[in-house]
Amino acid sequence: MISIKSDREIELMREAGKLMSKTFEYLEKELRPGITTEEIDKLAYDFITKNGGYPTCLGFEGYPASICTSVNDTVVHGIPGKYKLKNGDIITLDIVVKVKGYNADAAWTYAIGDISESKKYLMEHTKKALSKGIEQVKPGNHIGDISHAVEEYAKAHHLGVVRELCGHGIGTDMHEDPDVPNFGKPGTGPKLKEGMVICIEPMLTSGERYIYIMDDDWTINTDDGKPAAHYEHTVLVTKDGYEILTPRINKEL
Ligand code: MF3
Ligand code: CO
Repeated sequence: MISIKSDREIELMREAGKLMSKTFEYLEKELRPGITTEEIDKLAYDFITKNGGYPTCLGFEGYPASICTSVNDTVVHGIPGKYKLKNGDIITLDIVVKVKGYNADAAWTYAIGDISESKKYLMEHTKKALSKGIEQVKPGNHIGDISHAVEEYAKAHHLGVVRELCGHGIGTDMHEDPDVPNFGKPGTGPKLKEGMVICIEPMLTSGERYIYIMDDDWTINTDDGKPAAHYEHTVLVTKDGYEILTPRINKEL
């Protein structure tokens, strides 16, 4: 069942989204060669909880950390640990923040120091694929319109589209109906209605689209070892379009 949020619920999700934006702004200043992913995780936990939120990932189906830190060929669900970031890495921070019972979910890929042209290309076009998906959000359009826009953009730029993972509805639960795949046909799938809130999250790769799960049962890497990028926003369907509930401060999306 796809829930329609009330004005009060939307306001709470906006609040969670604002804390999310501040969390990203705070963490991105700390990203530099030498910091470990578990240090970033601790900073995230402290910042979110001090500001009245809870990092929903912590304890979710046994997940052992507050956020996901996915480096280079890790697509999603990288568990923070002893790994020290180094010049040339890319890292995705994927964070879910709950405020007064309501969640916001966002992910962003960052460059550490000087990165290769192909990583720059991957990041730029994965972010653009997210905005192409978001542009399809309005009442009367279908989930498949979003999926198709993301897939077409990714294919036109020769990037791999991970198919096993998808976006989702969100509210009191981090994952609600509907699924929001990153591939599909226009005009298919559930119809968007004012008051729905969905997470759109293209996960694109520089190489093939295939992935595998590591022995920790969480970390998902590209099969061919090529890098992956992942950008995600929580998006409200409004009367005539959309509102991004997790906007990046001082950034274009
Ligand atoms: N943002 C991720 C998602 O959409 C959250 C994963 S949290 C974890 O699925 F707990 F599953 F790691
Ligand atoms: Co998500």
